[in-house]
Amino acid sequence: MKKLIITAVIIFCLINTVVGAYVIVSMEHATSKLNYVISLHQIELLREHLLIYLKKVQSDLSLKNTSHERSVDTIVQNVRYLDNMMSRCMACHQSPEMLTGKNSASKHYVLSRLYGLQNDINVYKESLSRFLTIRAGRQRTELAFDKAFHTAEQLVAEVNTMVHATSAKLAERTQSSYRDISMTKNVLYALVVLGPIVAAVVGFVLIKKVSGPCNTLLRATRKITDGDLDNKIVGLKGEFGQVAASFNEMSDSLKEHMHRIRESEHRYRTLFESAGDAIFIVEAEGPEPGRIVDANPAAAEMHGYTLEELLKLNLVKDLDAPHAATDAPDRIERILQGEWVQAEINHVKKDGTVFPVEINAGLLEFMERKYILAVDRDISDRKKMENLILQSKIEWENTFDTITDMITIHDKDFNIIRANKAAHEILKLPSLETTRAIKCYAYYHGKDGPPKNCLSCSCLETGQPTSFEMFEPHLNKYLEVRAMPRFGNNNEIIGIIHVIRDITERKKVEEALQRAEQMKMVGEWATGLVHEIKNPLAGIKGSVEVLASDANMAEEDRSIVTQAVEEIKRIEILLKSLLNFAKPPKPQLTLVDINEILDKSIVFALRHPSVVANSSSAINVFKDFDPNIPKAMADPMQMQQVFLNLLLNAIEAMPDGGMLATKTFYDAQLNSIQITISDTGKGIDKTLISKVFQPFFTTKRKGSGLGLSITRRLVEQHGGHMDLESEPGKGTAFNIFLNVNSKGKEQKS
Ligand SMILES: Nc1ncnc2c1ncn2[C@@H]1O[C@H](COP(=O)(O)OP(=O)(O)OP(=O)(O)O)[C@@H](O)[C@H]1O
Ligand SMILES: [Mg+2]
Repeated sequence: MKKLIITAVIIFCLINTVVGAYVIVSMEHATSKLNYVISLHQIELLREHLLIYLKKVQSDLSLKNTSHERSVDTIVQNVRYLDNMMSRCMACHQSPEMLTGKNSASKHYVLSRLYGLQNDINVYKESLSRFLTIRAGRQRTELAFDKAFHTAEQLVAEVNTMVHATSAKLAERTQSSYRDISMTKNVLYALVVLGPIVAAVVGFVLIKKVSGPCNTLLRATRKITDGDLDNKIVGLKGEFGQVAASFNEMSDSLKEHMHRIRESEHRYRTLFESAGDAIFIVEAEGPEPGRIVDANPAAAEMHGYTLEELLKLNLVKDLDAPHAATDAPDRIERILQGEWVQAEINHVKKDGTVFPVEINAGLLEFMERKYILAVDRDISDRKKMENLILQSKIEWENTFDTITDMITIHDKDFNIIRANKAAHEILKLPSLETTRAIKCYAYYHGKDGPPKNCLSCSCLETGQPTSFEMFEPHLNKYLEVRAMPRFGNNNEIIGIIHVIRDITERKKVEEALQRAEQMKMVGEWATGLVHEIKNPLAGIKGSVEVLASDANMAEEDRSIVTQAVEEIKRIEILLKSLLNFAKPPKPQLTLVDINEILDKSIVFALRHPSVVANSSSAINVFKDFDPNIPKAMADPMQMQQVFLNLLLNAIEAMPDGGMLATKTFYDAQLNSIQITISDTGKGIDKTLISKVFQPFFTTKRKGSGLGLSITRRLVEQHGGHMDLESEPGKGTAFNIFLNVNSKGKEQKS
């Protein structure tokens, strides 16, 4: 096609050039011919003028010597015109127009005739001049006249001949020029008419050549647009042939792509429609966000609608439960920001049933519009299972935590990985969920490593369950320990389970029973002993006192007897204590002010002979009495004895002086009064702590060892209890806890 257009353009240009050249040449030719004819006519005119002036001069000659004679000047004037005409004739014949196109022979002939004519005119002028100037005689004058006249006649004849000869030629030339011009004019007319026709024909042919293939291509394009990808373009050549080939290739490739797209679409459609989860495509923005654009059959079935009904609904407004719908704008906003949102929400079925779904939703963009792809899974069954599991877990944990025994589960590295509530509270364990490496030995024994001969460790080594009882000083508790091995999938030991019971109370009861038994025995024994000793001792005492009353006794003997009396008195006191211990008097309960009794007891203690005797060491007394202590039901004498025993022990524990601190405190919640008597003395060794309350246990040279046992007995008779804290070298503190009965409390208020 390109070649055709180029060829057409070249031909068109050539035709234009040739026609133009032809027109130019024709015009040039006609113009020059016209110029030539004009020149010929001018010459013709000059010749005729020449003839006229010749005839004028001839007539002037003829009229000479007549009444119509003209003056010589007029004749001369006419001769001059004649000469002038001749000169112009010569000039004209020698002009380029006249010489152009003539051969040299013709030129020579014309010029020789002209020169001949000029020569004749010159002869005529001479003859004329002689005739006009001669004055010699008539004969000569007539001769001159004749010659001149005759020459003139010849000239006229010659010029006439020339005029006749040239007039015919001039007419022929003029005719020829006219024909040429007319010819040129016709050619120009023809060109003016034919030019557009030829251009139209060429254009038509070209358009025909171009529009045909274009229409074929257009038709093929329309067919492809209509989906006919099998249509092929045939019969086109040249450039259009190449375009058609490319077009056919394009339609083949398009067909293949369409095939792949259809296959892929089919796959996804199958996936979409056969998926067990509900799949929704909903509008993410616009006037109605949440409007369902597409959904799969599972979505319809899950919500109890038909697919047609579902496609008219709005996911948020119609399917989300009210609470889920409230949160929907926030979810949509997050999705629009590119987040893939996962959540568990409630949906509502067509019949109003609310059920839980797990949603996974993300942004989907096509055709420059934003949609949400939401995959919803009905998790009703899973939720039921989770609730069951949770329920079981809660039940198990409640059971686990309800057990009052400490239960701790350990791994092989002595880490507690699980513990029940009792264990948490007693061992003061941190949260096992947040803290790592909670070593059992640290919390059970307060140690940096497993204790030596740890029986639980043997269980870990042997895989055999073990049980034992122990007192754990770190917890200040008696424990009944049971250790059981934990086995892994391959029957290997992966740790142990400890079930530990706090048997402190049981032990205390056992001890109390044992003590009560002891007391009973001691009491019976002491009563008998006191009874047996009392009477002889009274006799001894009376005898010794009689001896002591002898005024003549030597001073040395008197001091020995006095010492004997003192020792007998001490035995009496001891017997009294023994009797007191064996058969303590019943407390006489009355409303008492504990602060007051304690304060008085401090005064007595500081004045006690044993203290006064050792007054060299400074005892600082510190009192911290709670002013809000209510009055309590107690025996004031027995309470005083209790405080005195403790105060004296404290002072005796500080032979080098120290701080004797006393404190009272009322615990309103427990409705109990706590009295603390502490010292900064030598303290009690840990191994002896459990023994100090036993009767007759003493570390003192003159001690009876009955002070603390009587004290505890009196406190327990008042419904209270007591304990102690001691650190060797730093001091000891005894705590007494007395219940305030309601009557006592009312009295205070
Ligand atoms: N505050 C204390 N500091 C250090 N040790 C103490 C203290 N109180 C008691 N003890 C120890 O407890 C033992 C028993 O005391 P308890 O009062 O029963 O008898 P005692 O003081 O030895 O004799 P008694 O009280 O009959 O004179 C004491 O011997 C002493 O070793
Ligand atoms: Mg004592």
